[in-house]
Amino acid sequence: MSEHVKIVEVGPRDGLQNEKQPVSVDTRVGLIERLVGAGVRHIEAASFVSPKWVRQMAGSAEVMRRVPRMANVHYSALTPNIQGLEAAMAAGCEEIAVFGAASETFSQRNINCSIRESLERFRAVMNVALQNKLRVRGYVSCVLGCPYEGDIEPGKVSEVALILREMGCHEISLGDTIGRGNPDSTRRMLEACIRVIPAPQLAGHFHDTYGMAIANIVASLELDLRTFDSSVSGLGGCPYAAGASGNVATEDVVHLLHGLGYATGIDLHKLIRAGSYIGSALGRATSSRAALAVYGDCSTTSAA
Ligand code: HMG
Ligand code: MG
Repeated sequence: MSEHVKIVEVGPRDGLQNEKQPVSVDTRVGLIERLVGAGVRHIEAASFVSPKWVRQMAGSAEVMRRVPRMANVHYSALTPNIQGLEAAMAAGCEEIAVFGAASETFSQRNINCSIRESLERFRAVMNVALQNKLRVRGYVSCVLGCPYEGDIEPGKVSEVALILREMGCHEISLGDTIGRGNPDSTRRMLEACIRVIPAPQLAGHFHDTYGMAIANIVASLELDLRTFDSSVSGLGGCPYAAGASGNVATEDVVHLLHGLGYATGIDLHKLIRAGSYIGSALGRATSSRAALAVYGDCSTTSAA
């Protein structure tokens, strides 16, 4: 049997948080329904952050209430603080994500506090979340470079990752927020993290600004990572990292993994149709090379 690789689809959150015009709840739910129909089982569906900071994620409670609930489909949502956690629990979230950074300046710009303050805040969030039997994912941003500080030491990444892991995060997602990494820097950063956290508890979260994300995933697979975040159609960016492009396209990751003999449980053709649906809604061509190759650019035609 093929070895399984877990895909965490972050398009409905990381992707759509960056759109100039907020995308309606109907469209967000329509995208999630199509992703589930394509076999995607882990979806970051919402973000309970301040709407003054990221207005695109307003309506997250309604999104969470309307997503299709199935025993084998897992949804998560970002929660920066207790206020976000309480909103997420009221909306029926069973998994949340806290999001820290390996760069001081990015931490200040993104969540308005230092790394140390953020970790104290997350500890309080996690205590309540774990008491209520929620699973908690931890993010570390800027693991391969920061838009404000440039290079980031691998040791800083592993330090923050380990603190999140010791607080009880079941998985640590390592974010190349601005897509500056290459296979060599990815390997060095991962080696530092794997010294303190086993590879199966780490996830790769690559943005594709310089077209290196697929190469970085191959480097990560070689170091035994088996979880990757991606965004259908390559949607996204980060509102606090100017110039960062979207996440690596889920279609391209699935094409890569199936070609390498891994199983994902995802139907590539149905996934491409989900990408086509959101492309039509946004009036945007897909960023997925695999989608272009399989169907040509169908983002302006009507989708299932
Ligand atoms: P702050 O201004 O320091 O917060 O923001 P505050 O506690 O002083 O509160 C200010 C106001 O915000 C108050 O309202 C609060 O009620 C409200 P007011 O009294 O002025 O009317 N507020 C909230 N409202 C709703 N939900 C909440 C919430 N918290 C406070 N949870 C804060 C601090 C963390 C809230 C803010 O900085 C924030 O929301 N930041 C989120 C930024 C963000 O979402 N960034 C994108 C996600 S990170 C990312 O994309 C990277 C990742 O993909 C990995 C990678 O690629 O590297 C994960
Ligand atoms: Mg991201």
